[in-house]
Order: sequence, then structure tokens, then C-alpha cells
Amino acid sequence: MSDKVKAFSPQLVTRHLSLITGVNMPQSYETLIVERRNRVAIITINRPEKRNALNIQTREEGAAALEELREDSSVGVVIFTGAGDKAFVAGADIAEFAGRTAITQREVMLGRSLFTAIDVFPKPVIAMVNGYCLGGGCELALACDLRIASETASFGQPEINLGIIPGGGGTQRLTRLVGEGKAMELILTGDIIDARTAFNLGLVNMVVPAADLEAKTMEIANRISEKSPVALRMAKEAVHAAARSNLDEGLRREVDLFALCFSSEDKDEGVKAFLEKRKPAFKGK
Ligand code: COA
Repeated sequence: MSDKVKAFSPQLVTRHLSLITGVNMPQSYETLIVERRNRVAIITINRPEKRNALNIQTREEGAAALEELREDSSVGVVIFTGAGDKAFVAGADIAEFAGRTAITQREVMLGRSLFTAIDVFPKPVIAMVNGYCLGGGCELALACDLRIASETASFGQPEINLGIIPGGGGTQRLTRLVGEGKAMELILTGDIIDARTAFNLGLVNMVVPAADLEAKTMEIANRISEKSPVALRMAKEAVHAAARSNLDEGLRREVDLFALCFSSEDKDEGVKAFLEKRKPAFKGK
């Protein structure tokens, strides 16, 4: 897309209108559908004819949607899924690789990264995996906090078959999640595994029949979205620290984040509600 066209994209126009009017208007996207149900937002990657492959526009819109949802205090949890019944995301858009230089590809990966946006997103993000979850799709799911898969889903890092390697966190996050031996096997062979095998490896949190996928994911998302947003944020940050620091640093970080929870109104409300034998009403403060 040329810069001129980008300057008039629906997202930018909506953002400018929001700034001018002071009214928070939902943005519109061409490759995504964003819906809100209770305190849960669902981002559906909507390119089913291309098996929801991630092109530059989808990555940018995904990051923009997260930016919008980050500011929205009515949203406590975000779900990523793919349109149609065939694919979650079948990887990076391979058509965009043709003729691309190393420098351009590096810019694409280091620019507005969807994977990083999920990683640093202060609310839980769940991948609802409804079909092919390959390459960049698997990396997208790996960047999420939980992965719930339908029995018909399949997983893999088939980049090796294209003469490349995973570049969106696959070699790092997959290895941390399933261990070096299995990650190495998946990345070197490019083999695709079914959802049960992915579950046995610890790559997904649970596998459910395809017909139950949405209901089960919504049930979990709704349940999490009722917790204190402050505590959820601290919990995500503390768990992330485990794989990114040594034990002493991680334990220290945990204590700091644990103590920080004591400065929140949510902690006072949670403790009070327990003692008064009622459900807490968290405010995210
Ligand atoms: N990038 C770009 N286009 C893709 C794509 C991708 N990652 N995955 C699928 N598509 C496109 C196909 O080119 C095809 O487009 P067309 O109808 O214009 O020819 C369309 O999506 C349907 O794909 P098709 O292969 O016919 O569907 P399928 O259901 O038989 O097979 C897959 C699905 C996912 C197994 C197969 O498309 C595939 O292997 N995709 C590539 C996976 C991959 O290597 N991902 C890592 C990329 S780094």
C-alpha cells in the first residue's frame, strides 16, 4: 500500500475522528473482524480464501486492534481466531516473500510486530485454534497466553520447506514451551502434528471437539475476564519473567509484582469480598 493510500486508511480516519470528537469510536479493519461479548473481545483474522495467512496489512491491523483494545477498560480478555472452518492462520503470506530483500523482510519483522504486541499486551490473550496453525500462525498462537484447540486443528513450523526458518519467535517460544528436543524436531522436519499430539507436547492447553471450541473458549475467557485486571496484568508479567530471567531475578520480580498488587483497590475489594462471603466487584484500579 502506498503512503498516500495509507494516509486515508479507515483506521487513521477513525482515529482522527476519535481525537477530534473525544468519542472513542470502534475502528474498522479490512482483514479482521473485532467483536465484543461481555468483557471479551474476539479478533477474527478474516482471509479464509488464503487460509488466513498473515500479510503485512493483517499484521498491522492486528497490532492496531490490540492498541484499541488496550485502552478499552470494558475489555478484560482478547481472543484471536481465524475465519472459516479450515484455518486458524496458515502462516505468513508466502506470496509476499517472493522477490523480497533481506532488508525489507527485517523491517517487516522489526516494525509494528503483531507477535510483540500480543506479548506485551497487558491483558490475557487466548488463541482459539480452529484449523491449520502453521508457521507464523503457530508463532501467533505461541505469543498468546493460552491456546485452546479444536480436535481438527493441526500445528507445525513448516518454514524449512521454503528454505527459511521461523522468524516470529518460533525457535524461541516453541523451545521454551515444549523443550529443545521436540522444538528441534518440529522445526527441522517441518512436520505437521495433530491437536492431540500438540496437547501431549504441552503446545496447547486443551483440545475440544470442533463444535464446542467457541463455547469452551468463551467460558474460559469470561471466567478470566471477571478477575482483577490489575492482578491479571501482574500475573502475566510475572509468568513471562520465568522464561526470561534466572530463578533469583524471577523470584525477585515476582515479589515486586506481588507487592505492587497491594497498592490496588482491587486487592482491598478482593480481600473484603472474601471476608464478607460475596463476589468481588473489581474495578481495575
Ligand atoms: N501464504 C499465502 N497463501 C496461502 C498460504 C500462505 N501461508 N496458505 C494457503 N494459502 C493460499 C493458497 O495459495 C491458496 O490460494 P489460491 O486459492 O489463490 O491458490 C489458498 O490459500 C488455499 O490454499 P490450499 O493450499 O488450496 O488449501 P488447502 O486447504 O488444500 O491446504 C494448507 C491448506 C495450509 C495445508 C496449504 O495451503 C499450505 O501448506 N500452506 C502453506 C503453509 C506454510 O508453509 N506456512 C508457513 C509459511 S512461512
